[in-house]
Amino acid sequence: MNPSLKAKATIKFFVLATALSASPMLLAEGNPTFEKVCSSCHTGGFKGWVTGAPNIHKKEEWSSYLDRDSVERMKEIVLKGAEDHKVKGGCSTCSNGSILNAVDYIISEVR
Ligand code: HEC
Repeated sequence: MNPSLKAKATIKFFVLATALSASPMLLAEGNPTFEKVCSSCHTGGFKGWVTGAPNIHKKEEWSSYLDRDSVERMKEIVLKGAEDHKVKGGCSTCSNGSILNAVDYIISEVR
């Protein structure tokens, strides 16, 4: 291979590698507990539709919750569960801290 072709191939490789690694990096920038536990219901999609869970990508779906409940109350609902919310979103092995961080993450996205 001549040097310039080799350079092009190397650049292609890096572009591809960056593209492939970008999605896990984005997830890591979000919130690991949110991605693992909460995202199944709280990012729209089929389960979001079935359960009626507010979508993190749609601020308007959160406004009535934000009007009704303080962040403290939301944390209590998610940690301890409520009529229409599973305890810790169903993740019994999640630490309280990771759940609270996931709520903070949602609030920071939807406010
Ligand atoms: C099985 C689906 C499901 C999962 C998983 C889930 N949620 Fe929810 N969540 C809901 C639904 C449905 C509502 C709306 C409940 C209602 O209408 O009062 C909700 C509401 C909420 C609210 C607003 C509560 C209120 O009434 O003010 C918060 C905050 C929240 N979820 C956080 C989380 C977090 C954090 C996680 C992950 C640890 C999580 N949820 C996982 C279904 C889910």
